[in-house]
Amino acid sequence: MISPDTCVRDIAISRPGATAVFRRHKIDFCCNGAASLSQAAARRGLPVVQLQSELEALGPDEAGPPSDPSALIPHILTRYHEVHRAEFPEAIRLARRVEAVHRAKDDCPHGLADHLALMFDDLEGHQQKEEAVLFPMMLRGGGPMIAFPIERMVAEHLDVGEQLEELARLTTDFAPPPGACTTWRALYEMCRKLDADLREHIHLENNVLFPQFA
Ligand SMILES: [Fe+2]
Ligand SMILES: [Fe+2]
Repeated sequence: MISPDTCVRDIAISRPGATAVFRRHKIDFCCNGAASLSQAAARRGLPVVQLQSELEALGPDEAGPPSDPSALIPHILTRYHEVHRAEFPEAIRLARRVEAVHRAKDDCPHGLADHLALMFDDLEGHQQKEEAVLFPMMLRGGGPMIAFPIERMVAEHLDVGEQLEELARLTTDFAPPPGACTTWRALYEMCRKLDADLREHIHLENNVLFPQFA
């Protein structure tokens, strides 16, 4: 049985599928992963045994993404950096269309396209720093100066966490209103995926990659 004292970050690392359980219950495993399972459950008003049994139901620990930096960094680049670059522009396009067509409706997500554009702009700057500075340093084995770029990236990850809160607010937790058109529904599904991917991405960096150079 998973102990209620285990921190959510360690569960997210060791149990593939755990991050989906945490996301479902809005438990932050990427930036606030040091909380214990019981603390996280209490914050969400959940019985800790419910979380324990959902996590146990995932089955025993299995191999997740690689943890060695020489394999994990290429995985992060192809699975997350490139995927965000492909998906944000499409989400922004869909949001502009929905906001233009449905602007007179009460539940129109006013400001969503601009918010997504701001997120993408910040993320692009962040990813470029990782690609040009931090990841090459890591692939060369680290060094004493690496603490500074790591600290900076962790701080920027916290900003992404706040942007994701705003994204959830603008999209009413990714739930389109009744009768929403296909574009609107597709847009909210895309936003849900962006949220899931970004949380997983940050989790891999904060909790798996960066600690190896601490
Ligand atoms: Fe990254
Ligand atoms: Fe990052």
